[in-house]
Amino acid sequence: MLRTSCLPVLGLAAVTLAATAGPLRGQTSVASPDGRNQVTVEVREGRLTYGLSRDGRVLILPSLLGFEFRGAPPLREGLRVTDTTRQSHDEWWTQPWGEVARVRDHHNELAVSVEETAAPNRRFTVRVRAFDDGVGFRYEFPEQPGLGAFEITEELTEFSLADNARAWWIPSDRPRMDRSEMLYSSGPVSVPSRVQTPLTMQTRDGRTYLVIHEANLVDYARMNLRTQRLEDRTLHADLAPYADGIKVRGRTPFVTPWRTVQVADRATDLAPSVLGLNLNPPNVLAGTDWIRPMKYVGIWWGMHIGAQTWSSGPRHGATTANAKRYIDFAAANGFGGVLVEGWNVGWDGDWIANRSAFSFTRAYPDYDLAEVAAYARQRNVRLIVHNETSGGIENYERQLDSAFALYRSLGLDAIKTGYVTDTTGEGHSHWSQHMVRHYRRVIEAAARHGIMVDVHEPIHDTGERRTYPNMMTREGSRGQEYNAWSGDGGNPPEHETILFFTRLLAGPMDFTPGIFDILRERGTGGPRRPDEARVRTTLAKQLALYVVLYSPLQMAADLPENYEGQPAFQFIRDVAVDWDTTRVIEGAIGDYVVVARRERGGQTWFVGAITDEESRTLDVPLSFLTPGRRYPLPVAITRRAVTSATRLRLVLAPGGGQAIRIRPAG
Ligand code: NOJ
Ligand code: CA
Repeated sequence: MLRTSCLPVLGLAAVTLAATAGPLRGQTSVASPDGRNQVTVEVREGRLTYGLSRDGRVLILPSLLGFEFRGAPPLREGLRVTDTTRQSHDEWWTQPWGEVARVRDHHNELAVSVEETAAPNRRFTVRVRAFDDGVGFRYEFPEQPGLGAFEITEELTEFSLADNARAWWIPSDRPRMDRSEMLYSSGPVSVPSRVQTPLTMQTRDGRTYLVIHEANLVDYARMNLRTQRLEDRTLHADLAPYADGIKVRGRTPFVTPWRTVQVADRATDLAPSVLGLNLNPPNVLAGTDWIRPMKYVGIWWGMHIGAQTWSSGPRHGATTANAKRYIDFAAANGFGGVLVEGWNVGWDGDWIANRSAFSFTRAYPDYDLAEVAAYARQRNVRLIVHNETSGGIENYERQLDSAFALYRSLGLDAIKTGYVTDTTGEGHSHWSQHMVRHYRRVIEAAARHGIMVDVHEPIHDTGERRTYPNMMTREGSRGQEYNAWSGDGGNPPEHETILFFTRLLAGPMDFTPGIFDILRERGTGGPRRPDEARVRTTLAKQLALYVVLYSPLQMAADLPENYEGQPAFQFIRDVAVDWDTTRVIEGAIGDYVVVARRERGGQTWFVGAITDEESRTLDVPLSFLTPGRRYPLPVAITRRAVTSATRLRLVLAPGGGQAIRIRPAG
């Protein structure tokens, strides 16, 4: 009673207090170091809100913060500010590997603590960090009498967009299939009802790009976004549930992941995105020398095109002999790794339904794991051990330590996991807190055993690699595999030009580029039907993807025989996988993009340009090169000398691209 009648009064008081400095004022803001991005936190009529503006222009209107719980009243009104603190931070840190070697963490921080004015007088703090490239905020619950163990049924965080921005999105509400392997749509953000993050948007006036995502998801449910009503421009946090509908179980003290809004004037300024990395704790591993980016080949595409099988039988792909052939191919071409799928018992029958049948230590009789491991070691090639779980989490976790110990005893230090499933066996969402914990346990166990991780069917990347640099790459989007078997003809030519500005802003992607048999004419045991999937890019675009779609584990995905006699294969042999510098030269979301990256520890630049279904002629300045230096450049098998003053004319065919290596002369 008392609480509700107090509300308007409190709101008025808050506004008045805003004019005066001091810890109890109701409205307070923090700006990025360049002064352009400003977050304002305010108590309005007892409700805590935040808003975001850039150059004084509102991007996010005052938006609600708060929670609903099972067995406790919601935490969203009757609040007053009890304290505000500020800090600034400026630090450069070095990534063990990445799109850029050095990252600057430069931000201003504001922490606003609030308390319910009535019992149970619960308290929490909202911590905001304002960077030049965006902002992040999170909730922090101190230990307190009124809030111990809790069950969150709804996180009330809103992103109330100031205009009906254009969004590039994939839905999060496909019944059952909690996955991200979909094609993107674009249109007014008010139209879709449930979407995944990172959600990239462009304001109507074209002046600003916004990307909503999250960072440092450790012990919480994954966040998607939803609109409540049609034509609504307010996006609400939409947490993935446990089977019983609860979103998050916790106990104070507790902190949530960061909610992030990346902000840029141009789409080309969005990547490489380091906002999320800056909001993750630094590396906790004692040494990282054993963690090495690499290119790899694998017993993989053959299964996807139906030429080989994961299961045992006459077409079994993972045989000792086959694996040795791939290892020889990798060694001969300077690739670091070989992935072997279908090596372990569990693939026979319906492997998606039989999720508990997988053994992660027992090989099929025609695959001698120890022998293959020794063969690889002698040739300085690393095996990537495949662990498909089909979502059988308990089955996998039971074997985790013994499996990883076995791999390490054989000198194997990389795995690729897989979670082909609709929901977990227990019915929890693939993105629930239950699964967030699982994925984290795997990263931590792998780190303990000295194993690098590549996750397929993952939860979206929230910057885990900063803390655990053995968390290398993941899928989490529609990759090349859809060009083998999708029922819709394969990925359309625009697909990768969208991925670069959406999915890849979260982190590296194991897209698996490099299919040369683009019409899928070979190895399938028969001609492709016209409606069947194929690679809808030119061969040059397949090469360009090595530069455009960043991954520290980068596959040459085709069958080795398809690279034979192909001059273009030389580019895949040459291209770097670890970068000192990344420059996005030109691009438009869904149309085209040109990316230049300089290899780490060297002076060679690689340029990748890709287009959608339109052909384009681009005039690309090479001003990123070191001035005064000459670079002989092979263009279509001829060499050409260029300098930083050169403008390079790139002609891209429909669905095409160009891939270029630029090395200093002499
Ligand atoms: C889906 C993964 O994305 C793919 O790479 C893998 O080959 C299959 N699952 C089987 O695990
Ligand atoms: Ca997949």
